Amino acid sequence: MSYISLDGVSKQYGAAWAVDRVAMAIEKTEFVSLLGPSGSGKTTLLRIIAGLEKPTNGRVLIGGEDVTDLPPHKRGVAMVFQEFLLFPHRTVRENLAFPLRMLKLPKTEMDERIDWVLGILSLRGLEGRYPNQLSGGQQQRVALGRGLVGRPKALLLDEPLANLDRELRQEMEVEIRKHQTALGIPFIYVTHNQEEALSMSDRIAVVRNGRIEDFAPRAEIYDRPKTAFIAQFVGRSNRFVGVLKREGATAAIDAGAVALATADRPGLKDGAPVAAYVKNEKIRLRTPETLHAVGANALAATVKHVILRGPYAEYVLTWAAGEMIASRPRAEVEFSAGDAVVAHWDPADVDVFPEKEAAA
Ligand SMILES: Nc1ncnc2c1ncn2[C@@H]1O[C@H](COP(=O)(O)OP(=O)(O)OP(=O)(O)O)[C@@H](O)[C@H]1O
Ligand SMILES: [Mg+2]
Repeated sequence: MSYISLDGVSKQYGAAWAVDRVAMAIEKTEFVSLLGPSGSGKTTLLRIIAGLEKPTNGRVLIGGEDVTDLPPHKRGVAMVFQEFLLFPHRTVRENLAFPLRMLKLPKTEMDERIDWVLGILSLRGLEGRYPNQLSGGQQQRVALGRGLVGRPKALLLDEPLANLDRELRQEMEVEIRKHQTALGIPFIYVTHNQEEALSMSDRIAVVRNGRIEDFAPRAEIYDRPKTAFIAQFVGRSNRFVGVLKREGATAAIDAGAVALATADRPGLKDGAPVAAYVKNEKIRLRTPETLHAVGANALAATVKHVILRGPYAEYVLTWAAGEMIASRPRAEVEFSAGDAVVAHWDPADVDVFPEKEAAA
């Protein structure tokens, strides 16, 4: 029995289904992200788990109990929102006390809980300040503290880091994951930011049009995308459109200007229109003299420009049929705009899907 179960959960607004037959089972120690584009139904799904929204169909179970008809405060879960929702005219301590007042706890226990949260979130010494006297990161920690102070059975977070700059966001990612591990309760984290989902999660549910496209360990979502949508949405890829050509145990994609070798794709018919994706970091670069030595999936290309991304360089390449991008560690190769290169990659790194699905 999983700790949190969603069983055929749907939500209809007017004629549209914001959440469409979602089934998920989440374990007690898991960090799960709901990752999907804007409007895909992530917030609606989270609000259904929290009890802030009633599903049109389906059941929600928490800790083995059917909570579908319970109001939010009887579910024992807490939610942290994107807009911090701190009370501006109350101090940090008063903000943290707020959720406890609803629980009607004795004063000593309230103080103990607040002290615990101030400690784990490194907020000691700031209890008397007002939100506008805190940095963005400190405000976010108070918001997190408000979620944790009631000792919830699960914490639901809706894009809590969206308003922070990149550096602070990355620090908070590490911190949030640390708290989840220490507390041993599930965190369900909504984001449209793949970096956030990949950095923190055990498993990622990719949400698209109200449905779960795949729910799998993060490395699987990244390395072995199950659908064209996931290949396109997670990571950065080069896309080739063509026709599958099967020869014995191997397959190739005839994309006009190039025939890509690929690992065989059972289930795809010979001659089927396909879209193939190769992640930018799977494209390796060599000098042009080595073209003959590389074998399958080697293209002559020219470096158009180079984008530096810290330890990585993104090479925008032009080749016979257009542009592609190779992302390489700077310690490995160093090419400049105008250089002729060979771009090559492993057939096993080509993800192939029916073109129909990719276009949908
Ligand atoms: N109260 C509502 N009434 C009508 N439609 C709604 C309501 N809430 C959400 N929707 C619609 O449901 C769909 C899903 O919305 P939701 O807020 O869950 O998306 P989201 O994935 O959280 O998007 P974002 O990343 O932009 O926050 C959208 O089409 C939205 O317009
Ligand atoms: Mg949302």
